[in-house]
Amino acid sequence: MNDFLVRRDYNASMHQTHTTRVARSMELYARALELIPGGTQLISRRPSRYACGVSPVYAARAKGARFWDVDGHEYIDWASGIAAIILGYCDPFVDEAVCEQIHRGVNFSISSDLEVELAELLVRTIPCAEMVRYTKGGGDACAVAVRIARGTTGRDKILFCGYHGWHDWYLAANLDADANLNNHLFPGIEAIGVPKVLAGTAIPFPFGDLTHLGETLDRHRGEVAAVIMEPLRSQLPPEGYLAGVARLCREHGAVLIFDEVSSGFRCGLQGAQGFVGITPDMAVFAKSISNGYPFGVVVGRRAVMEPAARMFISSTYWSDAIGLRAALATLHEIRRRDVPAQLHRFGAQLQDEINAAARDAGLAVHCGGLSFYPQLQFETSDPQLKTLLSTLYIQEMAKRGCHGYASFCLNAAQGTDELAQTVAAAAATFAVLQTGSSSGTLKQLLECELRQESFRRLVK
Ligand SMILES: Cc1ncc(COP(=O)(O)O)c(C=O)c1O
Repeated sequence: MNDFLVRRDYNASMHQTHTTRVARSMELYARALELIPGGTQLISRRPSRYACGVSPVYAARAKGARFWDVDGHEYIDWASGIAAIILGYCDPFVDEAVCEQIHRGVNFSISSDLEVELAELLVRTIPCAEMVRYTKGGGDACAVAVRIARGTTGRDKILFCGYHGWHDWYLAANLDADANLNNHLFPGIEAIGVPKVLAGTAIPFPFGDLTHLGETLDRHRGEVAAVIMEPLRSQLPPEGYLAGVARLCREHGAVLIFDEVSSGFRCGLQGAQGFVGITPDMAVFAKSISNGYPFGVVVGRRAVMEPAARMFISSTYWSDAIGLRAALATLHEIRRRDVPAQLHRFGAQLQDEINAAARDAGLAVHCGGLSFYPQLQFETSDPQLKTLLSTLYIQEMAKRGCHGYASFCLNAAQGTDELAQTVAAAAATFAVLQTGSSSGTLKQLLECELRQESFRRLVK
C-alpha cells in the first residue's frame, strides 16, 4: 500500500511517531482517549484488539457486507458489526420497516402494540419461550434473566461459563479471586466499582466438564439460582454434555439460562437451543435478532418468567418501537430467505477455500469450527507465536480490505465477490506469514504492536 501517512501513536502517553494507513482514525482515537475513558464504548472495538495503526478504528458508513472507514478505505466486515449484523448492513427490508416506524413514532407514553406481536412470534419460534421481556442489549438481557432467576428461586448464587456482559452480578466473580474471569473473558480484569458484598455470588465453571459442574452444584446445594452459559459458539458441545447440564439443573432446582446473544440465529431460526436440541428454562438474545438496531430479549418457561410480574424490572426504552420493528422484520427475513441454510453453505465453502489457500502457501493454519462461524487455528503450541501470527494475519488482511479477527462472523450479504476477495487476500497473507516463518523474520513484518488478547471463552 502506498497510502502511508505520519501519525501519532494511539497511546497518547507514548507520543511515538509511526506511519499509518489510517491516519484519520488514529487522530480521532487520540482525541477520544482525552475525552472518553477507555477510548471506546465496547472492549471489542478497541484498536488494541486488532492491528493498531493498520486496522480501521472509525467507520464512516456501511452497506451490505462492507464498511468504509474515515480514511476512505473499503473493507469486507468479517466481524459483522461484532455479530449484530446477520442480514447485511442497511438491509432494505429491515430499514424500510424501521423508517416507516420512525414516521409513526417510536417511543410513546403508552406501550407499542408491536410488543405483543413480537412476543407471539418469539413464543412460536423459540422452543423455551412461553413468556417474554425486552431490553436494549445483550448485557442488559443477561442481567434481567439473572434477576428473574434469583427472584423466582429465592436464591443468590449464579454459576456461569463464558462472557455475559458488564454488570455487577457477573464481574462479582473476580471479587473473591481475580483470576476467575481469566478463562471466560480475559486476564487482568479488576472488579473495580463492584460491591464487595457480592463476593462469592458468581462462580465460574469450565465448559464441557459435567463432573466439575455437578461438584460445584453439590458444594453450593440449595443456593444456586441459575446456571448461565452459551450452549455453543464455534464448535459443537461434547456429545450429551448439554443434556447433562439440563439434568443437573433440574436435580438442583437451578434455572438453566442459555445466553444466545452472540450465537443468535446463525445456526437456525430456533436459535442454538433448536440446533442442539436442548431446551433451557430461559434464554437471552440480542445482536442479530434486530440486525444492528439496539434490542434484546429474555424468554423462558412460564413458571420461571411469571414471577417477574412482581419484580422491579423496568426501563423507558425497552419498549421503543424501533427495536421491536427491527426484530420483527429481521426474524421475518431470516425465515423468508432461509438465512441459516445460506450461512451454513457459504461458511463451508469459505472454510474449504481458505484451507486450500493455506495448503498452497505451506502454512500450518487450519480454518475449522462450525460452518456458520469459521475460525482460523494457527497450529503452534507457543501462545506468543500464536498472538504474533494472528496480529500479522489481521494486519495483512486489513491492508487487503478485510476487517476482523482470525475468524469469520457470517452475514447474508456476503457473496461470491466477498468470498473471492477474501480467499485471494488470505492466500497473499499466508504467503507473507510463511516467508516470515521460514526465514525467522516474522517480528520484522509487524507494522503495529502485538494485539491484546481477545475475549477468551471456554465455550468454543
Ligand atoms: C454471549 C454474550 N453475552 C452477552 C453479551 C453482551 O451483549 P451487549 O454487548 O449487547 O451488552 C455478549 C457480547 O458480545 C455476548 O457475546
